Amino acid sequence: MSAPVDGPGNGKADLIIRNARLIDGTGGPSYSGDIAIRDDRIVGLGALGGMSGGTEIDAQGKAVAPGFIDVHTHDDRAVLANPTMKNKVSQGVTTVVTGNCGVSLAPLKIDRRPPAPLDLICDTPEGFYGDFASYLKALDDAPAAVNVLAQVGHSSLRVGAVADLTRAASSSEIKVMRKKLEESLEAGAIGFSTGLFYPPSQAAPTEEVIELGKALHDHAGLHTTHMRDEAAHITDSLAETFRIGREADIPVVISHHKCAGADNHGRSVETLPLIDAAMKQQRIGLDVYPYIASSTMLSPDRMAGASRVLVTWSVPHPEHAGRDLADIAAEMGLSQTEAAGKLLPAGAVYFSMAEEDVQRIMKYPHSMIGSDGLPHDTRPHPRLWGTFPRVLGHYSRDVGLFPLEEAVRKMTGLSATQFGLKDRGTLKVGNYADIVMFDPDTVIDTASFTDPMQAATGIALVIVNGRPVWQEGAVTGARPGRAIRRQQLGTFGKAA
Ligand code: ZN
Ligand code: CU
Repeated sequence: MSAPVDGPGNGKADLIIRNARLIDGTGGPSYSGDIAIRDDRIVGLGALGGMSGGTEIDAQGKAVAPGFIDVHTHDDRAVLANPTMKNKVSQGVTTVVTGNCGVSLAPLKIDRRPPAPLDLICDTPEGFYGDFASYLKALDDAPAAVNVLAQVGHSSLRVGAVADLTRAASSSEIKVMRKKLEESLEAGAIGFSTGLFYPPSQAAPTEEVIELGKALHDHAGLHTTHMRDEAAHITDSLAETFRIGREADIPVVISHHKCAGADNHGRSVETLPLIDAAMKQQRIGLDVYPYIASSTMLSPDRMAGASRVLVTWSVPHPEHAGRDLADIAAEMGLSQTEAAGKLLPAGAVYFSMAEEDVQRIMKYPHSMIGSDGLPHDTRPHPRLWGTFPRVLGHYSRDVGLFPLEEAVRKMTGLSATQFGLKDRGTLKVGNYADIVMFDPDTVIDTASFTDPMQAATGIALVIVNGRPVWQEGAVTGARPGRAIRRQQLGTFGKAA
């Protein structure tokens, strides 16, 4: 690797983007200048008149920012099955964090269709990996267009180790899970996620998670959580999450923070101060997606509080994907609960949040942006294709929720700090060249609930490790992404 040039410098670069509005990812004011890339690194920033590039691009004032880090994804299998990752690189995403909500492809050996919600990422037993090292090796052998940080899911561990998922794990089952978690962390998993909301894990007591969390403490891993309850008992869930972090002494990220259900609308005025207070005692992070609807498995008994339910896929009734459950139920002459039962296994979108909460949580200075997109759904929630451009174009530019620099920080610098990415997430000489060029005046999501699989507008160029992956409205086919190991990361929650 060649040595970085310090600041405005002389010499030769592979690529120089000139006349850009440089947004560095720290939240600081943008400035005009050039950026130079050699091999996989940024080698110059600022006025680079003395430098020349093998290729030179005139940005014509467009924004150039660090590539976006999607901190909450279910791309575990997508990065292998659809490695050019059009739905993500078309948004400017250059790094994804997988293994969220308790669900991961590894480590798990299984000989049947996996139970929900594991089937959201893979519905056949062959797609799972018995050990984490083989999953990471698969990514090394067949890299994706984007970088990957992979976590171990608690539900995946439970499905593999707990004989009866409707009860707490026994101490010997906890030992088995802990050993698998430790092996995974040693292989390079960056952390451990829970989905205490979901059937395979809802019987797990807090103590079970704390026991597993201790393995994270010993191996310097991170914990992320889809909490037990994001509705009526949200504050209890926050307390449980803080307790897990404190007793295991580990950093915790609250996934897709929301206040779900009509009765809980407006309660982010309660939850954010609780998070603020906890942050003074321990390491806490959180992410959010920019929509008032959630999406996950279809659960007939858990639709209360949603004003509208859309079916995203169904095994027995694939023809109903994309339709309103209310219409399907009317056609069947059944209640919505009964109709949902006929569609299982299935997925759904739930309109369950208030706009005011989504905006308040997004604006909260510690919130990162994560899509939570479900890449294998027949008619996915539009967040899979639209999250990042929607924050930039809709919420920052059109609504005026925060300046563009702050929007970018929430998807780059802040996320890199939380996830220990030492040399990504900011524009800095010497950092990896993960870069997005976009037009701040036109960038916008186009994926909608009725037409969810549409690439965003205004993302001009996306570069991962120095190589273009998205250019002129199309994937280039390059797959320069890397499977980044925990051992390559710095301390979670601390700026490099
Ligand atoms: Zn989740
Ligand atoms: Cu999720």
